[in-house]
Amino acid sequence: MATRSAWVDDHRVAISDDPAIAEFFNGWEVYRAVIDHDCMEHREVYALVAQILAERTQPFAVLDLGCGDSAGIAPVLRGLPLAQYVGVDVAEQALGFAADMLAGLDTDLRCRDLGEQLRDDSQQFDVILLSFALHHFDSTAKREVLAQARERLTPGGQVILIDVVRADGETRDEYLARFEPYVATWPIGRDMQGRVLEHVRRNDWPEEVTRMAALARSAGFGDVTQFYAGGQDTQAGWVLSR
Ligand SMILES: C[S@@+](CC[C@H](N)C(=O)[O-])C[C@H]1O[C@@H](n2cnc3c(N)ncnc32)[C@H](O)[C@@H]1O
Repeated sequence: MATRSAWVDDHRVAISDDPAIAEFFNGWEVYRAVIDHDCMEHREVYALVAQILAERTQPFAVLDLGCGDSAGIAPVLRGLPLAQYVGVDVAEQALGFAADMLAGLDTDLRCRDLGEQLRDDSQQFDVILLSFALHHFDSTAKREVLAQARERLTPGGQVILIDVVRADGETRDEYLARFEPYVATWPIGRDMQGRVLEHVRRNDWPEEVTRMAALARSAGFGDVTQFYAGGQDTQAGWVLSR
C-alpha cells in the first residue's frame, strides 16, 4: 500500500491494492466463464479492437495493463506486425493462461502492479491496452494512470481504453442496483453470478461514461474517440491519442 500511495498522492488508490482483487482473479474460472459465455461482449469489443489495430502496418509494441489471460487480444495480434507484447497483471494464475494464449508470439508477461509498471520509463509502447482494469481505481487514480500511460506512448501511439461504466448522473449504488439483475441474466450459473457480484460490490468503481472521457482529456490526451458502447449502458471503449 505504501508504494502505491507514493505514486498517487491520494490514499484511495489503495482500492486497487485490495488483495481480494488478485484473489478473485486467481480463481480465474469465474472470469473464464464470463469470457466463454461472452457475458461482457468480449467478441464485439475485440472485433472492434482488431479494426483499430489493423491500421498498423509497421511493427508495433503493445503494453497490456491488467491483461488477465489475454484471451481477447491474443487472437487479434496473430497476423499483425507485432514487435512485442508486454502483459502485466497481479494475478499469477491468469498470466499462466496468457502464456498459453500467446504461444508463438514475442511476449513478456510480468506479475506486477500496473502502477509500478507505469513508473518504469525504460520502454515506450505504440499501443497501451487498458481493458476492464481501470475500474479498480478511484477517479483521481484513474486520471493518474491515464496520464502516466500517455507518458509511455511513442509518438503516434494510442491507448485503447475499455471499461465498465455508470450512466451519466448515476450513483454507484444505483449502478449496482441495476447491475445485479443484469448479471442474473448471464448464463454462468448462480454460484458464479454470486461470486461476480461479490467482487463487483467490493472492488468495482466504474466511472460515469462522460466523466471517463473527461478524465482522459484532463490526463492530457488531445483526441478521445469513443468506439464502443455496450452491455446495458454498462461498458464503453475509447481510443486515446496524445
Ligand atoms: C476484469 S479482468 C480484465 C482482463 C482482460 N484485460 C480483459 O479485458 O478481459 C481485470 C484484470 O486486471 C487485473 N488487475 C486489477 N488490478 C490490477 C493492478 N493494480 N495491477 C495489475 N493488474 C491488475 C486483475 O488481476 C484482472 O486480471
